[in-house]
Amino acid sequence: MIFIEKEIQTAAYLFASILFILSLGGLSSQESAKRGVFYGIVGMAIAVLATVLGKGVEGHVYIIGAISVAAIIGTLLARKVEMTSMPQLVAILHSFVGLAAVLVGFGSYLDPATHTLSGTEHTIHLVEVFIGVFIGAITFTGSIVAWGKLEGKIMSKPLLYPGRHAVNILMLLASIVLGVLFAGAEGLDGMMYLYIMTAIAGFIGVMLVMAIGGADMPVVVSMLNSYSGWAASAAGFMLGNDLLIVTGALVGSSGAILSIIMCEAMNRSFFSVILGGFGTVKSSGEATAIEGEVTALNHEEVADLLKEARSVVIVPGYGMAVAKAQYPIYEMVKILQKAGKKVRFAIHPVAGRLPGHMNVLLAEANVPYDIVLEMDEINEDLPETDVVMVIGANDVVNPGAQDDPSSPIYGMPVIEAWKAEKVIIMKRSMSVGYAGVENPLFYKPNAEMLYGDAKDSVEKILGFLKA
Ligand code: TAP
Repeated sequence: MIFIEKEIQTAAYLFASILFILSLGGLSSQESAKRGVFYGIVGMAIAVLATVLGKGVEGHVYIIGAISVAAIIGTLLARKVEMTSMPQLVAILHSFVGLAAVLVGFGSYLDPATHTLSGTEHTIHLVEVFIGVFIGAITFTGSIVAWGKLEGKIMSKPLLYPGRHAVNILMLLASIVLGVLFAGAEGLDGMMYLYIMTAIAGFIGVMLVMAIGGADMPVVVSMLNSYSGWAASAAGFMLGNDLLIVTGALVGSSGAILSIIMCEAMNRSFFSVILGGFGTVKSSGEATAIEGEVTALNHEEVADLLKEARSVVIVPGYGMAVAKAQYPIYEMVKILQKAGKKVRFAIHPVAGRLPGHMNVLLAEANVPYDIVLEMDEINEDLPETDVVMVIGANDVVNPGAQDDPSSPIYGMPVIEAWKAEKVIIMKRSMSVGYAGVENPLFYKPNAEMLYGDAKDSVEKILGFLKA
């Protein structure tokens, strides 16, 4: 077996770190995202090679076997997963990072090599193990609950029981006490404290995510992304691996920044979300009665409305992703543009099920970026818009977020579709969106429903537009 010198390994780690930074930079815009992913892949390949070929690494047969099996599973999963299920996949992958940090922590504690440490070095090592296992266990169970909520296996409504903050604080205090006992224990005597703390941290992870409601789930996923980074970083400290420390810190801080951006976009307090909904205003539970009547149009009538309109804004949502309607939608846009109409897309920051979900789908259908506008850019134009087509979106156009304090999504900025002259809502039924709340938009006098699968409906409208 060929081993590489420590200096070469360090240089390779440095190079991989630079590639990871370039990768994150690339992912910040759609034009450079593919390049960003490529940098990430190359950086990770270099990182794995430099680690496996490092001096002192044994059991290469097992390592190569494990990497091969994992690579096959990963490739199959990634090829099979639907775009709409990406958040679940991401959540479950975060849980693996958390579990890895827990296992590394236990392994490092049991490792005879670490028992020769003494004094401050020994204490620092124990603190690293304790914190690493703590963050890892929270990330592990929290991510599994997030997966369950996104997959619809666990109710998306927040689980809020009286005194839960006191219970969380008590569990945190108990963990600190256990940490002090652990750091003071001789030999392997601290194992029991480590076991108890792992169980407590696992419980905290479950409770933190259970307390978060449907519409705040995007922030939770990016928060868990951040936690998984810190867990990896902690594992890096335990293993004395600089690259893992740097990479973990990059993931941890970029995940935290993304969470803050998303909190701002959703008008939520960052601390309230990371502390499991601490300080959130509890809705009265008495939903305000919705007034008005729901009326519906057929495809031909919608096509006629579009023919008459001068300006059209399309608000895509999760339903567009499910129906894969982006291709006929862009075909429809091109026909409308040819007829001299101003057509634009309005994107809500949490539309769909993952950050940038709608942007990715529209880019896939080759929709030019200059007609895809963010919520803040388009909202002020909506009162002058003739027709807004809401295609498979629901929560992101819910006026209750602005004017119904009893609504669980109250305070979240939304696309003000109802301000246009006419709003057409394309969905299959009157059912609620991800946050599980009724939408008063459907009952507005200027709103019309067009029932059916989004792709099917757009194709039928296209037929009438072409006729
Ligand atoms: P939602 O509020 O989830 O509404 C989507 C609507 O699409 C549903 O009401 C559904 O109604 C309709 N639909 C489903 N399949 C359809 C199809 N084949 N054809 C036509 N319509 C279809 O979506 P949104 O407005 O995009 O809001 C996103 C929600 O997800 C927010 O609450 C957000 O907080 C949450 N969330 C977002 C993320 C990220 S990061 N973006 C992550 C997790 C959760 P019908 O059943 O009647 O058709």
